[in-house]
Parts: sequence; structure tokens; C-alpha cells
Amino acid sequence: MKFTLPLVLLSALSSVYAAVPVPKGTGAAIIDIPNWSELRIYHQDGSSTGIKEITTKLPTTGVLNDGFVFTGATRANTPLAAISWSSGKDDPEIRVYFITPSNTLGEVAYIAGTGWNGGGNIGFPVQAGAEALYAKKVDNYLLVGYTNAAGNLAEAYYDLNNPGWKTYNF
Ligand SMILES: *[C@@H]1O[C@H](CO)[C@@H](O)[C@H](O)[C@H]1NC(C)=O
Repeated sequence: MKFTLPLVLLSALSSVYAAVPVPKGTGAAIIDIPNWSELRIYHQDGSSTGIKEITTKLPTTGVLNDGFVFTGATRANTPLAAISWSSGKDDPEIRVYFITPSNTLGEVAYIAGTGWNGGGNIGFPVQAGAEALYAKKVDNYLLVGYTNAAGNLAEAYYDLNNPGWKTYNF
């Protein structure tokens, strides 16, 4: 679900787009919201803190909105990963994962019917400078891959039917 995209290239496609500067070294992540035919792209701006969300549709749509969904601090050059799924309501559930300034796994959540939750620290230690980060929902599990403090690939997981984060090493 994670990819690295030089967002400024989007601005080169047409003069109708305003430039979206992103710090060199940070990641970006994308989800789609089928009910609204929208794409949401998570990125950082030049301040390297917080997480912004671009709302767009097709490449011809342009940027409909680009605002903060998380205003707390992140690790410099954090990777980003995002997932969304149907909530049964009109709006989706969304989770965006990042690395905190204290090198732990962080999450900001969009709760259907409620909105963005302000963000939180999942707490599992991440190796300083590590760039691996992925997220995927499988059945009732949220899965978040990262590099643990020992430098090994690890996966945090959250059972939506039995809430609480756990982690294991591959
Ligand atoms: C679309 O909205 C309906 C209710 O308006 C909801 O039941 C459904 O789960 C939504 N689909 C997705 C993919 O979020």
C-alpha cells in the first residue's frame, strides 16, 4: 500500500495544479474511497512534521483539498503507510502509520462517523532511520510491517474483534 511518489511531478502535468512540495526522504501513501470515487494521498509538507491528506480523483481532477489530518511531530523522513476499509457507514475507516520522533510506530485514525482522532503512539520500537513500513487489512486484522529495534522485519497486528496491538518478528 506504500509507494514513493515525487508529488511535485503531478504539478508538472498541468498548470492548473499548485505545487505540493514534499521533503526529500519522506514517504507517501495512498488509499481509495470507492463510495466517493476519491483518492486520498498522505504526505508531509516542507516542515517535515504532521501528515497532510490530498483529496483527488482522476489525474484530470486536480487537488480538491490538501489539509492536515495529523499535526503532531513525526520522525524526520518518516515513511508513511495507509489502509482503508468499508465501515458499513457512508464514510470509511482509514489508518495512516508513521514513525514517531522517539522511533516508535505511530498511527492516526479516521473513525467512520467521527473523523480524525488526533493520532497516537503504538509504542513498538523502530530502528533509527529505518524506511520499511507497510500496512494491509486482512480479515479482521490490521497488519503493519516495520523494522524493529534489532533491525529485523517485524509486523504489528491489531485484531478488530479483540482490540489491542501485538507484534511478532518474521
Ligand atoms: C458505502 O456506503 C454504504 C452506506 O451508505 C455502506 O454501507 C458501504 O459500506 C460503503 N462502502 C464502502 C466501500 O465504504
